[in-house]
Formats: sequence, structure tokens, C-alpha cells
Amino acid sequence: MIYYKTQAEIELIRESCRIVGTAIAEAAKLLRPGLTTSYINLKVEELILDLKGSPSFKGYRGYPYASCISVNEAVVHGFPSSKELKPGDIISVDVGVLKNGYHGDSAYTFALGDPGKEVLQLMKVTKESLYKGIDKAIAGNRVGDISFAVQDYAEKQFGYGIVRELVGHGLGKSLHEDPQVANYGRRGTGAKLHQGLVIAIEPMVNLGTRDVYYDDDGWTVRTKDGKAAAHYEHTVCVDKLNAQILSSFVEIEKEEKRNANLYSCYY
Ligand code: MF3
Ligand code: CO
Repeated sequence: MIYYKTQAEIELIRESCRIVGTAIAEAAKLLRPGLTTSYINLKVEELILDLKGSPSFKGYRGYPYASCISVNEAVVHGFPSSKELKPGDIISVDVGVLKNGYHGDSAYTFALGDPGKEVLQLMKVTKESLYKGIDKAIAGNRVGDISFAVQDYAEKQFGYGIVRELVGHGLGKSLHEDPQVANYGRRGTGAKLHQGLVIAIEPMVNLGTRDVYYDDDGWTVRTKDGKAAAHYEHTVCVDKLNAQILSSFVEIEKEEKRNANLYSCYY
């Protein structure tokens, strides 16, 4: 069942996304060698609560934390941990916020110090693939047009591994609604996109093999070959001429530039 949102609902989702962006920007501000991802999670959760939101992920199907923090070969759904971050790590911070009955969901991958040219390019291409997908989130297109655009760029042009097991999704009153938004697929297939459809597009892209496995914790998804993975996510609303991006990387990128510990993938 696909739910199309009214303008008022879209504004509520935008408000939830604003808190998500602020929370991920807080992570960007804090990141430094020696920090633990548990500490980032703590600060993210505090900030969400300060801004009168609640963390969407905490308790979702038993997920225990406010954020997913996935380091290096962890693709997504990483548990915050007491392990200290070190230079060369890449860190995906994924946050969802529920406020006024509506969810917002976004994720960003940071490089702490220099992870090397190969990994920086992976990050850049993954982020760009997200925007390639967003470009197709217009009324009249189909979900498969988004999926194809992401895959065509990251997999066909760059030879990276696109994760098949996890997908983007509709969202609104629920964190996960129809339709599923895979990061691979065929043009002209899947549900038709109409104005008011709100979806999270979230390419998960691996440097090497696309194959992943679940860690013993039951959540953390890791690459089978142990090579790095990147993940970026925006909540967007399908519209007539252009998708409206409801989440924002503006604050996040500002902090990323300001924090001397962080490398930008636009080297
Ligand atoms: N952005 C991710 C997703 O939409 C995060 C979900 S984590 C979970 O799948 F814990 F809530 F499942
Ligand atoms: Co999501």
C-alpha cells in the first residue's frame, strides 16, 4: 500500500529530517581519532531528544540504538561500540527521527583522516549515485528508473558492488513503507511515481564484492571480502519537475569541511 503525502505532511517530514541533519552534523563535529562510536550515538540521541524528536531506529524490530554507525567493511546497521576510531576509518552515520507522527531518515559517510584514494572515490561515487537516483524521482517515472540510475552509475561505470539485500523505502507515519527502492533494477519497471510519494533513497556500495553477511550481533551488515563500503541516504519527495530533497547535507558538509580530522571525498 503506497501512501501519498499532503503538503502539510511533507512539511512535517521535512521537520523530522531537519533534526536528522542536525544530529548527523553533530557527529561530523565530534569525529576525531580515539572517539568511540558509542559516544557519537549518545550525542546523537541527546540532540534528537533536545529537539523534541524521538529516535526512529531505537526499538524498531528490536534495534537497540538511536543510530546506526557502520565503520569500514560494515555496510549498514552497525552497532555503536566502544572501539576507538582511528585515522583511515570511514564511518557511516545513519539517523532516523520521529516527530509529530512522521519519520525522517538520512545517512552520510565520513572519512576520518585519509582512507586512501580508492576509498575516497568509492565515497564520492556512492554520493553521486544517490543524486543520480534522486534525479529520477519525478512524477511519471517508475521506481525502476531510480534503481537503474544508481546501479548504472556505481556498478556499470565504476565496477563497484551494489548491495542487493537491503533497499531504500517509502516512509512517513512508518519508517518503512512501500515501495521498496532497490539500488539495482531495470528502467521502466516497478511502481509509478506520483507527486507526494516520499521515499528514502540509500545506495549501499562496496569497493569489492557486492556480497554481504550478517554479523553475530544479528544486525551489522558487513562485506564478505572485508573491503570498505559507503552509504548515503536522503529522504525525498517525488514532484513534477524535480524531486524535493527533504533531508539536507548542508549542515553536515559544513561541519565536515570545518573539522580538520575529516577528509572530503572531493579531493
Ligand atoms: N536507514 C536504515 C533503513 O532505513 C536504518 C534502519 S535501522 C533500523 O533501513 F534499526 F531501524 F532498522
Ligand atoms: Co532508510
